[in-house]
Amino acid sequence: MCGIVAYVGHREACPLVIKGLKRLEYRGYDSAGVALMNGQGLKIYKKKGKVVALEQELDGKEIHATIGMGHTRWATHGEPNDVNAHPHYSFHRKLAIIHNGIIENYAAIKQALLKKGHTFTSETDTEVLGQFIEDIWENNGGSLEEAVRLALQEGVGAYAIVIMSEADPTQLIAARKGSPLVIGVGDNEFFLASDATPIVEYTKDVIYLNDYEIAVIKNGELKVVTLDNTTTTPYVHKVELELEAIEKGGFDHFMLKEIFEQPRSIADSMRGRVQADAGTLQLGGLRDYLDKLAKSKRIVIVGCGTSWHAGLVAEYIFEELARIPVEVEYASEFRYRNPIIKEGDIVIAISQSGETADTLAAIELAKSKGATIFGVCNVVGSSIARATDAGAYTHAGPEIGVASTKAFTAQVTVLTLMALAAAKRKGTISDSLFRQLLAEMESIPAKVEKVLQAADKIKEIAYIFTYARNFIYLGRGLNFPVALEGALKLKEISYIHAEGYPAAEMKHGPIALIDEDMPVVVIATKDSSYEKVVSNIQEVKARKGRVIAITTEGDTHLPGMVDFTIEIPKVHEVLMPLVSVVPLQLLAYDIAVMRGRNVDQPRNLAKSVTVE
Ligand code: G6P
Repeated sequence: MCGIVAYVGHREACPLVIKGLKRLEYRGYDSAGVALMNGQGLKIYKKKGKVVALEQELDGKEIHATIGMGHTRWATHGEPNDVNAHPHYSFHRKLAIIHNGIIENYAAIKQALLKKGHTFTSETDTEVLGQFIEDIWENNGGSLEEAVRLALQEGVGAYAIVIMSEADPTQLIAARKGSPLVIGVGDNEFFLASDATPIVEYTKDVIYLNDYEIAVIKNGELKVVTLDNTTTTPYVHKVELELEAIEKGGFDHFMLKEIFEQPRSIADSMRGRVQADAGTLQLGGLRDYLDKLAKSKRIVIVGCGTSWHAGLVAEYIFEELARIPVEVEYASEFRYRNPIIKEGDIVIAISQSGETADTLAAIELAKSKGATIFGVCNVVGSSIARATDAGAYTHAGPEIGVASTKAFTAQVTVLTLMALAAAKRKGTISDSLFRQLLAEMESIPAKVEKVLQAADKIKEIAYIFTYARNFIYLGRGLNFPVALEGALKLKEISYIHAEGYPAAEMKHGPIALIDEDMPVVVIATKDSSYEKVVSNIQEVKARKGRVIAITTEGDTHLPGMVDFTIEIPKVHEVLMPLVSVVPLQLLAYDIAVMRGRNVDQPRNLAKSVTVE
């Protein structure tokens, strides 16, 4: 959601910024713009639509510059159009600003500026902030840095901003509170971006700006100060991200690449943690907190979207193996109630991006009530990872497709390891089951690989259902959250209405929808609910619904009963979601491609939801 890229140094800024914006396209946006400074002064170019539309707009313009910044906007205040796109000039055009986040008290600031005779060209809160900074700068007589600091002391809300001013072609000022901002430190050059992806091809040295910090880059030097003007010494991290990890590598879409990466990404989530031969399991980030987890009276899991589904899977596993009661909450609901958190409660926050605003706010609330917070994040150094007491990274590698795939299986992998570690410490799992599950975990990558070999068959089924208007997904037990996830994948990228349901619950409502035009995907693997699910399938078939069943290899019963089957290898029931979700990801992908959808950047969705 909103992407920021800025550069100052010796290179051509415009192509670098445009390339960076393309790397951030996955975050989701609806317009794009750049600000450049050269002999012609501070120039802004912006356009509704994709970055390619902005490139066309720049065609033939004088774009030579060694300082510049760019932005992809996901509309919050004002519709997506050329005018509301960022950057925005200030009132006297002395500065330009780009912003990710929301300034909540912008209306009051705007009123005060209107009284002073200001006019506004856009409907955005960002333009108000830019004008406010310029107004302070003009009237206080101090530096721009000071004006930014004073303005941000007044601003309520979340932001990552970057400012360029006509007065100084060597200066970029950036600040953050609640929205991510990374500074790349090169040789006499600096890069700013919402995440490291636009930066890694130039430098691996990055600084993650903290909340309430302002970075001032001027004359080739970087200074970081806090909002109350204390200078801090930033820590320079080495990013491990490789360029190839953020490119498509021969696949048609990032989503397909990420689905096919799962054998590796699941293995990476376990790497160095599981030693099945020795029967040992270590989670470094949990070491000092494992006792607390094992002794906890209750676990509350918070997350959004696919991460919430991973939480639902974890609920079954923690309760089954570690016998700890678990509640799973949408972060957005949790934060706006008065949740009961008692001493000894553990909150696990799950987030691929580590930046989801609602999940971050849920953490802050739980912390204020005394809970210990564990994080399960994919993006290293992200805000959520830094806000938690302990945790385990998923190590799935960058996920670029908006619809989450490999992050889900990595989250489930890590949560399963956490449950196993807690169960072992608590003594609620037998040694033999512990060892058996570790060995089964190690076999999961090969089993997922086997499912991927059925890709062509899944494509044929997808072809038949390309023009369906609705879908129902059914599953029981651990496969119920998988049904929810399968339905979510389909609606996100194909725009077909799809609902996930616990298979037995179908008869309390959705059964009314079933006729010969209703495809029903049923996860009917050979597990403890198998017989019950078969009965549910019969209920669907009796009403002429068309059933696509995900079955266990060697099941000879279901093929004669349903319309289509997709076989998956036999897996221990507790680990089933890691394998059963994969055909559903492929089915959603194929249908979306056949419908001509923009699979990696579906309409209206954002990868990293940094506003509530
Ligand atoms: C957005 C994304 C989803 C993701 C959800 C939670 O809606 O489009 O794919 O599951 O946010 O994101 P998080 O980064 O916290 O896992």
